[in-house]
Amino acid sequence: MKMLAFAATNSRNSINVKLVKHAADVMRSEIAPESEIRVVDLNDYEMPIFSIDRETADGIPAQAQDLYEQIGAADALLISYAEHNGHYSAAYKNIFDWMSRINKRVYQDKPMVIMAATPAPSGAASVLKAATDSAPFFGADIRGSVSVGRFGERFDGTTGTLTDEAAAQTLRQSLAALV
Ligand SMILES: Cc1cc2nc3c(=O)[nH]c(=O)nc-3n(C[C@H](O)[C@H](O)[C@H](O)COP(=O)(O)O)c2cc1C
Repeated sequence: MKMLAFAATNSRNSINVKLVKHAADVMRSEIAPESEIRVVDLNDYEMPIFSIDRETADGIPAQAQDLYEQIGAADALLISYAEHNGHYSAAYKNIFDWMSRINKRVYQDKPMVIMAATPAPSGAASVLKAATDSAPFFGADIRGSVSVGRFGERFDGTTGTLTDEAAAQTLRQSLAALV
């Protein structure tokens, strides 16, 4: 199984990147050892703020096409959303908006696990709900959802692993639903 994984943030010290990398490790070590997982960094997909005028003048940026094609080439997706003011980070929303101009079904009917990490106790519940409610309209086949609030207390930064057994169990179950 070929998987594409990313954190929906442009932070260079992202807790969602840590969670995505951990999930990729769990997938390879416990769920599907044969899986090939590509973790991409949204900083490599920075592009101008979407505007209809830019699109008319210059077309869709190559980075948006590239990420859209990588989604298409994957068998499954793993995305961890940062919560910014209850919703997607502007960095991800911009990339998403550009990709949606290629095809509204951005997620291309791929099975996916959605996650979210936040230092706050809420576990980024708002952005996870936003993704859960809206992503199916954009071609997402959501198989599992993992929320990790109080990330600093539930994740060991030294080993790069979840220390909270309930969250770890939800992660394993969600990943298993991709296979
Ligand atoms: C502009 C901004 C808005 C934020 N809004 C929320 C929020 O609504 N809820 C929340 O729990 N955390 C919020 N946070 C804290 C983020 O969850 C925290 O910065 C987290 O580390 C983001 O994930 P990342 O490290 O993967 O980018 C916000 C942070 C920023 C910079």
